[in-house]
Amino acid sequence: MTIIQKEDINMHATRKVTDDILYIGADDRRLQLFENMFPIPEGVSYNSYLITDEKTALVDTADASVRDQFMENLTFGLSGRPLDYFIINHMEPDHCALIAEIAFRYPEVTLVANAKIFAMIDQFFGLDLPAERKLVVKEGDTLSLGKHQLSFVFAPMVHWPEVMMTYDATDKVLFCADAFGTFGTTNGNIFNDEIDYKDGYFVSEARRYYTNIVGKYGMQVQAALKKASAVDIAMLAPLHGPIWRTDLGFIIDLYTKWATYTAEDKAVAVFYSSVYGNTKSAVAALAMALADRGVKNVKVYDVSKTDISYMIAEAFRVSTIVLAATTYNNGIFPKMHYLLDDMKALTVQNKKVAIIENGSWAPQSGKLMQGIVSEMKNMELIGDKVTIKSSLSDPTSLYALADAIAETVK
Ligand code: FEO
Repeated sequence: MTIIQKEDINMHATRKVTDDILYIGADDRRLQLFENMFPIPEGVSYNSYLITDEKTALVDTADASVRDQFMENLTFGLSGRPLDYFIINHMEPDHCALIAEIAFRYPEVTLVANAKIFAMIDQFFGLDLPAERKLVVKEGDTLSLGKHQLSFVFAPMVHWPEVMMTYDATDKVLFCADAFGTFGTTNGNIFNDEIDYKDGYFVSEARRYYTNIVGKYGMQVQAALKKASAVDIAMLAPLHGPIWRTDLGFIIDLYTKWATYTAEDKAVAVFYSSVYGNTKSAVAALAMALADRGVKNVKVYDVSKTDISYMIAEAFRVSTIVLAATTYNNGIFPKMHYLLDDMKALTVQNKKVAIIENGSWAPQSGKLMQGIVSEMKNMELIGDKVTIKSSLSDPTSLYALADAIAETVK
């Protein structure tokens, strides 16, 4: 027998997306590191949706950290009705953590997912679901809730292999999983037109989310964008961040640039490592020389200080990258090595790259950095590598490099 919770025990916090679709997600301001890796100073939202029609359908759950709010919201949204379908688009635990609880709390619910998702449900939860509680869907399959006609669009490797999106043809809403998501809480303003989505901070956080989490899978994102363009979309309803109901082209354009590894700005980012300040000093002189040559908005980052996720986002954004690193243990300073490895893993490409190395007795970092850069796609080394032995006393080679860098952003 199903037990029904009749009243709000805490307080529901929901909003209507359309007449029949309710936002039942929640914000998380406590988590320090998303995926235990990426700082999220403004938190994150875990979005979930409930469609009420002749049949009811839950679209994804939320992270375990917001369990109580999510369950309260779902209970309120159902208002005593049974939960008929539970659609699962993505199996990363920030969205799927509550699958087992839903299956136990709503013993009549049919889980709707593709075969890869059902395999992962078994892996994560060890649930032995009877066949009548599973609806295994294939690409393009449809499901009628009454008025609402749903179809399923597969988006493999955006950014996990099982990912699919659910399209509601009635309200023209695409439940697009992690695609078009961003870091940051929604704070009640769940729609893009309720926030300053064009301001630099929002865009930089969206970029940091995309590039670090999905950046490697540009080809697959392009394929998903192509599929999505075939349907008439009024709203993009992602699993993180605002729901896009106006100016969809704004976020789609950004995603298209990121997925095609196209620099957003003709701009220079300098990443440096410095143990005792001499490489930093050379970089400071380079930044001044670039400014003297008319280069605006130069960004300089100490790889030992700035979290790597911010530098990855910058590497995607700019057209020109300067790598200035000390030699350490006859190799590249470890934090710079980590940045380069991550750039390579996330398939940063189509950049102009300038190199500065430092080494008191056997400078190696330049040659080694060039080697890693050459393993990335369409990376053009510019100017002559500058070699510093302990400290830079003659700036001639640095100024020549500044000339070459400035030329790339004219
Ligand atoms: Fe937000 Fe891939 O999980």
